[in-house]
Amino acid sequence: SQNIFILGIESSCDDTAASVIHNGKILSNVIASQKIHEEFGGVVPELASRAHQQNIVPVVNQAIKKANITKEQLSAIAFTRGPGLMGSLLVGTSFAKSLAMGLNIPLIDVNHMQAHILAHFIDEEGFNKPPFPFLAMTISGGHTQIVKVSSYFDMEVLGETIDDAVGEAYDKSGKILGLGYPAGPEIDRLAQLGNPKAYSFTKPKVGGLNFSFSGLKTAILYFIQREVKVNPNFIKENINDICASIQFTIIGILIDKLKLASKQTGINHIAIGGGVSANSGIRHALKTGETKFDWITYVPKFEFTTDNAAMIAIVGYLKYLENDFSKQDVTASARLKI
Ligand code: KG4
Ligand code: ZN
Repeated sequence: SQNIFILGIESSCDDTAASVIHNGKILSNVIASQKIHEEFGGVVPELASRAHQQNIVPVVNQAIKKANITKEQLSAIAFTRGPGLMGSLLVGTSFAKSLAMGLNIPLIDVNHMQAHILAHFIDEEGFNKPPFPFLAMTISGGHTQIVKVSSYFDMEVLGETIDDAVGEAYDKSGKILGLGYPAGPEIDRLAQLGNPKAYSFTKPKVGGLNFSFSGLKTAILYFIQREVKVNPNFIKENINDICASIQFTIIGILIDKLKLASKQTGINHIAIGGGVSANSGIRHALKTGETKFDWITYVPKFEFTTDNAAMIAIVGYLKYLENDFSKQDVTASARLKI
Protein backbone atom coordinates (compact mmCIF):
# COMPACT_ATOMS: atom_id res chain seq x y z
CA SER A 1 0.00 0.00 0.00
CA GLN A 2 1.00 3.61 -0.59
CA ASN A 3 2.44 5.92 2.03
CA ILE A 4 0.91 9.27 1.26
CA PHE A 5 1.63 12.27 3.45
CA ILE A 6 -0.22 15.49 2.60
CA LEU A 7 0.33 18.86 4.23
CA GLY A 8 -2.86 20.94 4.31
CA ILE A 9 -2.79 24.71 4.74
CA GLU A 10 -5.84 26.85 5.57
CA SER A 11 -5.85 30.66 5.71
CA SER A 12 -9.20 31.77 4.27
CA CYS A 13 -10.45 33.84 7.19
CA ASP A 14 -8.98 34.52 10.64
CA ASP A 15 -7.41 31.16 11.51
CA THR A 16 -3.98 30.10 10.30
CA ALA A 17 -3.96 26.32 10.24
CA ALA A 18 -1.79 23.44 9.05
CA SER A 19 -2.28 19.70 9.22
CA VAL A 20 -0.54 16.53 8.09
CA ILE A 21 -2.59 13.56 6.99
CA HIS A 22 -1.16 10.06 6.43
CA ASN A 23 -3.43 8.21 4.02
CA GLY A 24 -6.86 8.97 5.59
CA LYS A 25 -5.66 9.57 9.13
CA ILE A 26 -4.80 12.92 10.68
CA LEU A 27 -1.32 13.04 12.27
CA SER A 28 -1.40 16.69 13.30
CA ASN A 29 -3.91 19.54 13.26
CA VAL A 30 -2.45 22.87 14.32
CA ILE A 31 -4.37 26.11 14.47
CA ALA A 32 -3.46 29.67 15.44
CA SER A 33 -6.63 31.64 16.07
CA GLN A 34 -6.42 35.40 15.88
CA LYS A 35 -7.53 36.98 19.15
CA ILE A 36 -7.07 40.47 17.70
CA HIS A 37 -10.55 40.53 16.10
CA GLU A 38 -12.45 40.12 19.37
CA GLU A 39 -12.13 43.76 20.34
CA PHE A 40 -13.60 44.80 16.97
CA GLY A 41 -16.55 42.39 17.19
CA GLY A 42 -15.73 40.85 13.82
CA VAL A 43 -12.91 39.91 11.52
CA VAL A 44 -10.82 42.84 10.24
CA PRO A 45 -9.38 41.73 6.87
CA GLU A 46 -6.19 43.83 7.02
CA LEU A 47 -5.31 42.54 10.48
CA ALA A 48 -6.14 38.97 9.48
CA SER A 49 -3.76 39.05 6.54
CA ARG A 50 -0.92 40.43 8.64
CA ALA A 51 -1.46 37.83 11.37
CA HIS A 52 -1.40 35.03 8.77
CA GLN A 53 1.99 36.28 7.60
CA GLN A 54 3.30 36.08 11.15
CA ASN A 55 1.73 32.71 11.92
CA ILE A 56 2.15 30.65 8.80
CA VAL A 57 5.78 29.54 9.17
CA PRO A 58 5.54 28.49 12.85
CA VAL A 59 2.16 26.80 12.30
CA VAL A 60 3.39 24.75 9.33
CA ASN A 61 6.61 23.81 11.12
CA GLN A 62 4.65 22.71 14.16
CA ALA A 63 2.27 20.59 12.07
CA ILE A 64 5.19 18.77 10.46
CA LYS A 65 6.96 18.34 13.78
CA LYS A 66 3.85 17.00 15.52
CA ALA A 67 3.31 14.55 12.68
CA ASN A 68 6.80 13.24 13.40
CA ILE A 69 7.92 13.43 9.80
CA THR A 70 10.34 15.57 7.82
CA LYS A 71 9.36 17.98 5.03
CA GLU A 72 11.09 15.65 2.58
CA GLN A 73 8.58 12.89 3.33
CA LEU A 74 5.63 15.00 2.14
CA SER A 75 3.89 13.72 -1.01
CA ALA A 76 2.04 16.98 -1.83
CA ILE A 77 0.94 20.37 -0.47
CA ALA A 78 -2.79 21.18 -0.36
CA PHE A 79 -4.01 24.72 0.29
CA THR A 80 -7.25 26.69 0.44
CA ARG A 81 -7.70 28.52 -2.85
CA GLY A 82 -11.05 30.10 -1.87
CA PRO A 83 -13.63 31.27 -1.06
CA GLY A 84 -12.53 33.70 1.64
CA LEU A 85 -10.80 37.01 2.28
CA MET A 86 -8.39 37.79 -0.56
CA GLY A 87 -5.61 39.11 1.66
CA SER A 88 -5.83 36.02 3.85
CA LEU A 89 -6.04 33.55 0.96
CA LEU A 90 -2.98 35.11 -0.69
CA VAL A 91 -0.76 34.29 2.28
CA GLY A 92 -1.63 30.56 2.25
CA THR A 93 -1.59 30.34 -1.53
CA SER A 94 1.83 31.90 -2.03
CA PHE A 95 3.31 29.97 0.86
CA ALA A 96 1.95 26.63 -0.44
CA LYS A 97 3.20 27.36 -3.94
CA SER A 98 6.74 28.16 -2.85
CA LEU A 99 6.94 25.19 -0.51
CA ALA A 100 5.72 22.79 -3.20
CA MET A 101 8.19 24.26 -5.66
CA GLY A 102 11.06 24.09 -3.19
CA LEU A 103 10.34 20.45 -2.34
CA ASN A 104 9.53 19.63 -5.96
CA ILE A 105 6.24 17.93 -5.06
CA PRO A 106 2.68 18.40 -6.41
CA LEU A 107 0.49 21.31 -5.39
CA ILE A 108 -3.25 20.75 -4.80
CA ASP A 109 -5.79 23.58 -4.63
CA VAL A 110 -8.79 23.05 -2.37
CA ASN A 111 -12.23 24.68 -2.25
CA HIS A 112 -12.91 25.63 1.38
CA MET A 113 -16.64 24.83 1.11
CA GLN A 114 -15.97 21.37 -0.32
CA ALA A 115 -13.47 20.84 2.47
CA HIS A 116 -16.06 21.58 5.19
CA ILE A 117 -18.14 18.79 3.66
CA LEU A 118 -15.34 16.31 3.00
CA ALA A 119 -14.17 16.66 6.61
CA HIS A 120 -16.71 13.88 7.19
CA PHE A 121 -14.30 11.51 5.41
CA ILE A 122 -11.42 11.90 7.84
CA ASP A 123 -10.76 8.54 9.52
CA GLU A 124 -11.80 9.04 13.11
CA GLU A 125 -12.87 6.39 15.57
CA GLY A 126 -16.51 6.70 16.60
CA PHE A 127 -17.49 8.84 13.61
CA ASN A 128 -19.34 7.34 10.66
CA LYS A 129 -18.87 8.52 7.10
CA PRO A 130 -22.05 9.44 5.22
CA PRO A 131 -22.90 7.33 2.15
CA PHE A 132 -23.54 9.00 -1.23
CA PRO A 133 -25.76 10.76 -1.98
CA PHE A 134 -26.16 12.84 1.16
CA LEU A 135 -27.17 16.37 2.06
CA ALA A 136 -24.58 18.61 3.68
CA MET A 137 -25.45 21.76 5.57
CA THR A 138 -22.48 24.02 6.29
CA ILE A 139 -23.27 26.59 8.97
CA SER A 140 -20.69 29.02 10.34
CA GLY A 141 -19.80 32.66 10.76
CA GLY A 142 -19.08 32.89 7.05
CA HIS A 143 -21.35 30.32 5.44
CA THR A 144 -24.86 28.93 5.31
CA GLN A 145 -25.31 26.41 2.55
CA ILE A 146 -27.17 23.19 1.74
CA VAL A 147 -25.38 20.98 -0.76
CA LYS A 148 -26.32 17.74 -2.45
CA VAL A 149 -23.24 15.53 -2.42
CA SER A 150 -23.34 12.77 -5.03
CA SER A 151 -19.67 11.80 -4.80
CA TYR A 152 -16.46 13.38 -3.43
CA PHE A 153 -16.30 15.98 -6.16
CA ASP A 154 -19.82 15.95 -7.57
CA MET A 155 -21.59 18.54 -5.44
CA GLU A 156 -24.55 20.77 -6.16
CA VAL A 157 -25.47 23.81 -4.07
CA LEU A 158 -29.22 23.56 -3.44
CA GLY A 159 -29.49 26.74 -1.41
CA GLU A 160 -27.46 29.33 0.44
CA THR A 161 -27.81 32.59 2.29
CA ILE A 162 -28.65 35.67 0.28
CA ASP A 163 -27.26 37.97 3.01
CA ASP A 164 -25.82 37.13 6.45
CA ALA A 165 -24.54 33.73 7.50
CA VAL A 166 -26.24 31.99 10.42
CA GLY A 167 -23.19 32.49 12.67
CA GLU A 168 -23.37 36.20 11.87
CA ALA A 169 -27.00 36.18 12.99
CA TYR A 170 -25.80 34.81 16.31
CA ASP A 171 -22.88 37.22 16.57
CA LYS A 172 -24.91 40.30 15.59
CA SER A 173 -27.71 39.36 17.98
CA GLY A 174 -25.07 39.00 20.67
CA LYS A 175 -23.76 42.47 19.91
CA ILE A 176 -27.27 43.90 20.34
CA LEU A 177 -27.49 42.10 23.69
CA GLY A 178 -24.07 43.31 24.81
CA LEU A 179 -22.47 39.85 24.73
CA GLY A 180 -18.84 39.26 23.67
CA TYR A 181 -17.65 38.14 20.24
CA PRO A 182 -18.21 35.53 18.96
CA ALA A 183 -21.57 35.36 20.70
CA GLY A 184 -22.82 32.01 19.35
CA PRO A 185 -21.52 29.81 22.18
CA GLU A 186 -22.77 32.24 24.86
CA ILE A 187 -26.24 32.58 23.33
CA ASP A 188 -26.35 28.78 23.12
CA ARG A 189 -25.40 28.43 26.79
CA LEU A 190 -27.95 31.00 28.01
CA ALA A 191 -30.63 29.63 25.67
CA GLN A 192 -30.58 26.35 27.54
CA LEU A 193 -31.65 28.20 30.70
CA GLY A 194 -34.57 30.07 29.12
CA ASN A 195 -38.01 29.66 27.59
CA PRO A 196 -37.79 29.33 23.78
CA LYS A 197 -41.40 30.49 23.37
CA ALA A 198 -41.07 33.63 25.52
CA TYR A 199 -40.81 35.94 22.49
CA SER A 200 -41.51 35.28 18.88
CA PHE A 201 -39.66 36.61 15.85
CA THR A 202 -41.11 36.17 12.40
CA LYS A 203 -39.09 33.87 10.18
CA PRO A 204 -37.76 35.37 6.96
CA LYS A 205 -39.76 34.57 3.85
CA VAL A 206 -37.14 33.49 1.39
CA GLY A 207 -37.99 31.06 -1.34
CA GLY A 208 -36.82 27.51 -1.93
CA LEU A 209 -33.72 26.41 -0.11
CA ASN A 210 -32.11 29.81 0.24
CA PHE A 211 -31.65 31.54 3.58
CA SER A 212 -31.84 35.11 4.80
CA PHE A 213 -30.80 36.29 8.24
CA SER A 214 -30.43 40.05 7.99
CA GLY A 215 -34.15 40.69 8.54
CA LEU A 216 -34.09 38.63 11.70
CA LYS A 217 -31.21 40.69 13.08
CA THR A 218 -33.20 43.89 12.42
CA ALA A 219 -36.33 42.40 14.00
CA ILE A 220 -34.35 41.54 17.12
CA LEU A 221 -32.79 45.01 17.22
CA TYR A 222 -36.19 46.78 17.01
CA PHE A 223 -37.71 44.43 19.57
CA ILE A 224 -34.91 45.08 22.06
CA GLN A 225 -35.00 48.85 21.48
CA ARG A 226 -38.75 48.89 22.08
CA GLU A 227 -38.56 46.85 25.27
CA VAL A 228 -35.58 48.73 26.67
CA LYS A 229 -37.51 52.00 26.30
CA VAL A 230 -40.16 50.58 28.62
CA ASN A 231 -37.76 48.82 30.96
CA PRO A 232 -34.07 49.78 30.88
CA ASN A 233 -33.22 46.48 32.60
CA PHE A 234 -35.12 44.39 30.06
CA ILE A 235 -32.07 42.65 28.62
CA LYS A 236 -30.51 41.84 31.97
CA GLU A 237 -33.74 40.55 33.48
CA ASN A 238 -34.71 38.39 30.52
CA ILE A 239 -31.44 37.41 28.89
CA ASN A 240 -32.08 33.65 29.11
CA ASP A 241 -35.53 33.90 27.55
CA ILE A 242 -34.28 36.28 24.86
CA CYS A 243 -31.44 33.93 23.92
CA ALA A 244 -33.72 30.87 24.01
CA SER A 245 -36.23 32.62 21.72
CA ILE A 246 -33.54 33.72 19.26
CA GLN A 247 -32.06 30.24 19.20
CA PHE A 248 -35.49 28.65 18.75
CA THR A 249 -36.15 30.90 15.74
CA ILE A 250 -32.77 30.27 14.10
CA ILE A 251 -32.86 26.49 14.60
CA GLY A 252 -36.43 26.46 13.26
CA ILE A 253 -35.24 28.16 10.06
CA LEU A 254 -32.39 25.68 9.57
CA ILE A 255 -34.54 22.62 10.24
CA ASP A 256 -37.37 23.83 7.97
CA LYS A 257 -34.91 24.12 5.09
CA LEU A 258 -33.37 20.73 5.81
CA LYS A 259 -36.83 19.17 5.83
CA LEU A 260 -37.60 20.76 2.47
CA ALA A 261 -34.26 19.69 0.99
CA SER A 262 -34.78 16.13 2.19
CA LYS A 263 -38.30 16.07 0.78
CA GLN A 264 -37.25 17.53 -2.59
CA THR A 265 -34.32 15.16 -3.08
CA GLY A 266 -35.58 12.06 -1.28
CA ILE A 267 -32.25 11.96 0.58
CA ASN A 268 -32.34 11.25 4.31
CA HIS A 269 -28.62 11.14 5.11
CA ILE A 270 -27.83 14.57 6.51
CA ALA A 271 -24.38 15.84 7.46
CA ILE A 272 -23.61 19.16 9.09
CA GLY A 273 -20.39 21.13 9.50
CA GLY A 274 -19.09 24.61 10.36
CA GLY A 275 -18.77 26.28 13.76
CA VAL A 276 -22.53 26.55 14.36
CA SER A 277 -22.82 22.74 14.22
CA ALA A 278 -21.53 22.83 17.81
CA ASN A 279 -24.87 24.37 18.77
CA SER A 280 -26.86 22.29 21.26
CA GLY A 281 -30.16 23.29 19.67
CA ILE A 282 -29.24 22.11 16.18
CA ARG A 283 -27.79 18.88 17.55
CA HIS A 284 -30.93 18.17 19.50
CA ALA A 285 -33.13 19.00 16.49
CA LEU A 286 -31.13 16.62 14.29
CA LYS A 287 -31.55 13.82 16.83
CA THR A 288 -35.29 14.51 16.87
CA GLY A 289 -35.26 14.35 13.05
CA GLU A 290 -33.82 10.85 13.27
CA THR A 291 -36.95 9.54 14.92
CA LYS A 292 -39.44 11.98 13.35
CA PHE A 293 -38.29 11.98 9.73
CA ASP A 294 -36.12 8.85 9.49
CA TRP A 295 -33.01 10.98 9.07
CA ILE A 296 -29.57 9.56 9.58
CA THR A 297 -27.38 12.43 10.73
CA TYR A 298 -23.65 13.04 10.85
CA VAL A 299 -21.75 15.60 12.90
CA PRO A 300 -17.95 15.50 12.66
CA LYS A 301 -15.57 15.79 15.58
CA PHE A 302 -15.63 19.42 16.76
CA GLU A 303 -12.06 20.25 15.72
CA PHE A 304 -12.94 19.29 12.15
CA THR A 305 -16.11 21.42 11.97
CA THR A 306 -14.70 24.90 12.61
CA ASP A 307 -12.14 26.27 10.16
CA ASN A 308 -9.19 23.87 10.24
CA ALA A 309 -6.49 22.46 7.98
CA ALA A 310 -7.29 18.77 8.50
CA MET A 311 -10.26 19.22 6.18
CA ILE A 312 -7.93 20.77 3.59
CA ALA A 313 -5.53 17.86 3.99
CA ILE A 314 -8.26 15.22 3.51
CA VAL A 315 -9.36 16.89 0.28
CA GLY A 316 -5.68 16.99 -0.74
CA TYR A 317 -5.46 13.28 -0.09
CA LEU A 318 -8.62 12.48 -2.09
CA LYS A 319 -7.41 14.63 -5.00
CA TYR A 320 -3.94 13.08 -4.79
CA LEU A 321 -5.49 9.64 -5.29
CA GLU A 322 -7.08 10.98 -8.49
CA ASN A 323 -3.88 12.71 -9.65
CA ASP A 324 -5.80 15.97 -9.56
CA PHE A 325 -2.99 18.49 -9.16
CA SER A 326 -2.81 22.25 -9.75
CA LYS A 327 -0.41 24.22 -11.85
CA GLN A 328 2.09 26.64 -10.33
CA ASP A 329 0.17 29.57 -11.83
CA VAL A 330 -3.02 28.83 -9.83
CA THR A 331 -4.36 31.97 -8.11
CA ALA A 332 -6.42 32.57 -4.98
CA SER A 333 -10.12 33.14 -5.64
CA ALA A 334 -12.18 35.03 -3.05
CA ARG A 335 -15.50 34.00 -4.59
CA LEU A 336 -14.68 30.45 -5.62
CA LYS A 337 -17.86 28.39 -6.09
CA ILE A 338 -18.45 24.72 -5.31
O1 KG4 B 1 -16.54 27.69 11.60
P1 KG4 B 1 -16.24 28.85 12.48
O2 KG4 B 1 -15.32 28.61 13.64
O3 KG4 B 1 -15.58 30.01 11.66
C1 KG4 B 1 -16.14 30.52 10.49
O4 KG4 B 1 -17.02 31.39 10.61
O5 KG4 B 1 -15.74 30.09 9.39
O6 KG4 B 1 -17.62 29.41 12.99
C2 KG4 B 1 -17.68 30.48 13.91
C3 KG4 B 1 -19.12 30.85 14.11
C4 KG4 B 1 -19.31 32.12 14.92
O7 KG4 B 1 -20.28 32.91 14.27
C5 KG4 B 1 -19.82 31.60 16.25
O8 KG4 B 1 -20.64 32.51 16.92
C6 KG4 B 1 -20.58 30.37 15.84
O9 KG4 B 1 -19.81 29.80 14.80
N1 KG4 B 1 -20.75 29.39 16.91
C7 KG4 B 1 -21.94 29.06 17.45
C8 KG4 B 1 -21.67 28.11 18.46
N2 KG4 B 1 -20.33 27.89 18.51
C9 KG4 B 1 -19.78 28.69 17.55
N3 KG4 B 1 -23.17 29.47 17.15
C10 KG4 B 1 -24.18 28.94 17.86
N4 KG4 B 1 -24.02 28.04 18.84
C11 KG4 B 1 -22.78 27.60 19.19
N5 KG4 B 1 -22.65 26.70 20.18
ZN1 ZN C 1 -15.24 27.87 7.00
